[in-house]
Amino acid sequence: MAIVLKDKVVVITGASGGIGREAAVLFAKEGALCVLAARRKELLAELRGRLAGGPQKHLAMATDIAKEEDVKRLIEEAYKRYGRIDILVNNAAVSYVGRVKDMDIEKAGTAININLLGTIRITRHVLPFMIDRRAGHIINISSIIGKRGVPYRSVYCASKFGMEGFMESLRAEVMKYGIKVSIIRPPSVRTDFSKKIQRDSDVDHHALDDMGPGTVARMIADVAKRPKRDINMGIFAKGFLFLNGVLPGLMDKIVREK
Ligand SMILES: NC(=O)c1ccc[n+]([C@@H]2O[C@H](COP(=O)([O-])OP(=O)(O)OC[C@H]3O[C@@H](n4cnc5c(N)ncnc54)[C@H](OP(=O)(O)O)[C@@H]3O)[C@@H](O)[C@H]2O)c1
Repeated sequence: MAIVLKDKVVVITGASGGIGREAAVLFAKEGALCVLAARRKELLAELRGRLAGGPQKHLAMATDIAKEEDVKRLIEEAYKRYGRIDILVNNAAVSYVGRVKDMDIEKAGTAININLLGTIRITRHVLPFMIDRRAGHIINISSIIGKRGVPYRSVYCASKFGMEGFMESLRAEVMKYGIKVSIIRPPSVRTDFSKKIQRDSDVDHHALDDMGPGTVARMIADVAKRPKRDINMGIFAKGFLFLNGVLPGLMDKIVREK
């Protein structure tokens, strides 16, 4: 039977735009209590004002997941307000494009600190509350290139592979408490993500598919209702990762820099 989202407390990182924003709208429509986190507080406040159920039901807090004190404050505040956290959606991330030989290690470190350490940081803060209640669901937004490296995306791929490894270990530790861990791998999605790319080389990278953010948000809400271990979204992603699984050497040749 599907899990009812009404009155579930859902923390969503990266809720100020793109997939995270759409997910918050859907969760609120289902009656969930949303905790919105991102750095741009005006966008969060505006979203909170629009969510179903009215702004009083939801919490919006400017949070940089790269900063320990921000994340600690967010989770403490959410717990103080609602007394529990049912679902964590680890969605916030930044992009990064460039050849490894041109890489600026500072920029690379920033992306890793947000995408990988930020995810680890917030998960660590939420976990004790989930373990106490012997319930909870951590939903992670990875990417199809969180499972297969491609040129120019080394840092982004490293951050998503790292997140996936972390979550696989975590799943093995918390299964006994009834805590679920899911990974969703979308293909390329039409959001501002690629407009905000950090780049160290003048390279062009090609989207592997194109999906609307609403489709990914619907998948997040669906996984919250019917938990699944991992999902590759879209025919292209499924085919791409299947081929990579059976013939990785061929995939090396397909994706290589020409
Ligand atoms: N778009 C794609 O093609 C694509 C494909 C596969 C997977 N994904 C994944 O989908 C997720 C959402 O991406 P999107 O496409 O919706 O991109 P987006 O529109 O750029 O949204 C990214 C969100 O992350 C937040 N964020 C970035 N750095 C943050 C930080 N340090 N602390 C807190 N929040 C931060 C941003 O808010 P602020 O700037 O306000 O902080 C924004 O709300 C990401 O995990 C991404 O890797 C995207």
